[in-house]
Amino acid sequence: MVSKICCIGAGYVGGPSMAVMADSSPGVDIEVVDVDQQRIDAWNNLNGASLPIYEPGLQQVLDRVRGHNLYFSTDVAGAIRRADMVFLSVNTPTKHRGHGAGAAADLTFIEKAARQIADSAQGATIVVERSTLPVRTADGLRRILDCSTNARFEILSNPEFMAEGTAIDDLQNPDRVLVGGQCDATVNALAGIYANWVPSSRIITTNLWSAELAKLTANAFLAQRISSINAIAGICEATGADVEEVRRAIGADRRIGAEFLKSGPGFGGSCFKKDLLNLIYLAEHYGLDEVARYWRMVLDLNGWSQKRISQMIVKTLFGTLRDKRIAVLGFAFKADTNDTRESPAIGICRDLLHDGASLSIHDPRVDDGAMRSLLSMSDDGLPAVGGFEKAASVETACDGADAVLILTDWHQYKQLDWADLASRMRQPGWVFDARRGTNLAEAESHGLDTWQIGRGGLN
Ligand code: NAD
Ligand code: UGA
Repeated sequence: MVSKICCIGAGYVGGPSMAVMADSSPGVDIEVVDVDQQRIDAWNNLNGASLPIYEPGLQQVLDRVRGHNLYFSTDVAGAIRRADMVFLSVNTPTKHRGHGAGAAADLTFIEKAARQIADSAQGATIVVERSTLPVRTADGLRRILDCSTNARFEILSNPEFMAEGTAIDDLQNPDRVLVGGQCDATVNALAGIYANWVPSSRIITTNLWSAELAKLTANAFLAQRISSINAIAGICEATGADVEEVRRAIGADRRIGAEFLKSGPGFGGSCFKKDLLNLIYLAEHYGLDEVARYWRMVLDLNGWSQKRISQMIVKTLFGTLRDKRIAVLGFAFKADTNDTRESPAIGICRDLLHDGASLSIHDPRVDDGAMRSLLSMSDDGLPAVGGFEKAASVETACDGADAVLILTDWHQYKQLDWADLASRMRQPGWVFDARRGTNLAEAESHGLDTWQIGRGGLN
């Protein structure tokens, strides 16, 4: 019977997922620990700090559980010692140097956390892989954990499938929960906790390796759908078809399904790219070169989806962006999050700056410190040429702008007051909608030229 849980890593996954688990499992005490004191203070809302991540519904769940059966601290060793189950929710970025750089997962944080578990755990302890990991990582974990003299371990793989912006709903009503392991009793111990709020028909149990691979596969399939529809968006623009109409037509086929077919400026977020690279590296490692090439194309297409936006803008604005002001609406990688990791806006803004543009960037949740750290250097490591500022409102972003570029699907961009915005802009003015996310006909009725992703210009 599990009564004390420790979660190592208080990030986008660790925080919300443990909050939801605590909310539905009053008999279980959960300690979420991290090495980052500032992050832990923010989770505890200390000294007026706001939560480290923006996620709709998160504050309400925390208000119910924090200090009752959910605690945030930096006492990693103590929390491990007290726990009968330890979740590993640390980050697993792509390796940047050394063997496998640019493709393999950097397991430094996993290894460090495993060593901490081996040092501090007492008695029978279940270790749960929650981070997204290369297949067979559990083998390496076991080697480290077996060095412990005070504890014995079972390892489970329980990858997380939530998406940012909808994390609380995804966690409270998951399509499925996946528990992979080699020992039925251990698998059942974790499945039993989920059974507190997830119907048993949605709790899938597998062996360890299938669970590790299923997580990478899910992200690869989702990313592949986005690259597929973005490729079709390009064909739509060239031929006069409309990608939204194509989406409706193919999405009605139950075998294809309507979800995850929205064309845009390419996928961002901390996981799709790194997990695809992870899968590609795995395929190459096993000599499956055709398989690796197949998945690499999904990434290549995503690079094209991002690059073509800035190229098209430069071409439309007479080949140069010097002395031109562009209002950028949205910097987060998707709506309802403050996360900018791998956001398409980074590369696109860098390209526009490189061409000399002056950018005024609005985002309801991303602070200007994050923008500054991502935009002060261009892709080639040189200081950015044009200038940028964070705009306090959509209106101020548009003051004197030659063009408006919509990059994130924030709800508030859906119905903009184009009469007002057009009057603030320099003429001729353009709107580039990379998200199909605004009332463009109204912008046109106020004299603005428009481009919309996947909307063909031919009749
Ligand atoms: P994150 O960077 O937001 O959080 C990771 C945290 O782990 C950081 O706060 C870091 O300080 C902490 N940490 C690292 N090493 C530590 C150690 N030894 N001891 C204590 N704390 C340590 O990362 P994230 O977005 O929460 O992702 C975590 C994992 O979950 C990744 O493998 C990711 O692929 C996976 N995942 C993420 C999402 C998502 O939406 N972000 C969804 C599903 C799965
Ligand atoms: C994604 C997966 O959806 C989650 O299931 C997974 O757990 C998570 O990665 C992870 O492993 O980290 P997330 O990256 O948070 O979640 O957000 P998504 O909704 O998947 O969006 C990813 C990117 O794809 C965003 O830039 C989004 O704008 C883009 N996207 C999404 C599209 O361009 N079109 C779509 O139809 C859907």
